[in-house]
Amino acid sequence: MDRYAVFGNPVKHSRSPWIHARFAQQTGQSLVYSADEIPLDEFEKRVLDFFAKGGAGLNITVPFKERAWALCDTHGGFAAKAGAVNTLFRNKDGQLCGDNTDGIGLLRDITDNHRGQIAGKSVLLVGAGGAVRGVLPSFLAENPAKVTIVNRTVIKAQELAALLVGQAEISAIGFEELEGRVFDLIVNGTSAGLHGDLPPMPSSIVSTDTWCYDMIYGRGDTVFQAWARQCGAAKALDGVGMLVEQAAQAFYLWRGIKPETAAVIADLRAELSASDQD
Ligand code: ATR
Repeated sequence: MDRYAVFGNPVKHSRSPWIHARFAQQTGQSLVYSADEIPLDEFEKRVLDFFAKGGAGLNITVPFKERAWALCDTHGGFAAKAGAVNTLFRNKDGQLCGDNTDGIGLLRDITDNHRGQIAGKSVLLVGAGGAVRGVLPSFLAENPAKVTIVNRTVIKAQELAALLVGQAEISAIGFEELEGRVFDLIVNGTSAGLHGDLPPMPSSIVSTDTWCYDMIYGRGDTVFQAWARQCGAAKALDGVGMLVEQAAQAFYLWRGIKPETAAVIADLRAELSASDQD
């Protein structure tokens, strides 16, 4: 049976094995998918061993996405620019190929599942770490009118904007410069919510037409979602759909078949709220 896994540290809360088992069942594919916690100093060796022993594909999560990018012989899609990969496989020439499906996952969730628009919109990306970096190239390809990156450490936002300058109107600012601006779409890509924190954003950046999207998810609303609702945002979305959509794109790269995501997203939500009652 074809073997797949997600490599991360920590990884035990990963929902990927559950999602890929659902995809495999739905599409009649025979495969196994595990979640493997990889010691920090063993990542490269473990990836190479996995493929040498016939493994078919890997997902890569925190904190290894940049190291996985560096290990690849070649990059597909927008991954070369993203500088981080979450999906690995061997291409037909036997090369280790890395792709980043997070960007497509985010876009599909916003535009297909929620019928939102990015083209022509004024977008604020909050954060300048791996999460934002991973989705930025695919985001720019959707032709937003203007992309602003805001980050606590402004130099990181500036470095990220400089990498992609020329592709869209892109600027980098600190949180204190947000006052007086309003955005059509605000995407939170910081890890603040994982610690119950909220980046220091004034409520004035949200109008009743603004869509807010948190790349993370929790059992109920994330801190960012709760803030967005309080500000009167048109939508306050979490990252559950993005998680399933990025997995669906990885499944497609590996198997050549696109799974249906709607039922899997709905079931994952049900799982999350059921675990609430534990
Ligand atoms: P990831 O790969 O998940 O993006 P990361 O590279 O460590 O992780 O980046 C975390 C992001 O969340 C950064 O943009 C970080 O801001 P700094 O670059 O200034 O560190 C941001 N972040 C984390 N906690 C935050 C907080 N409490 N308020 C605002 N931003 C926060």
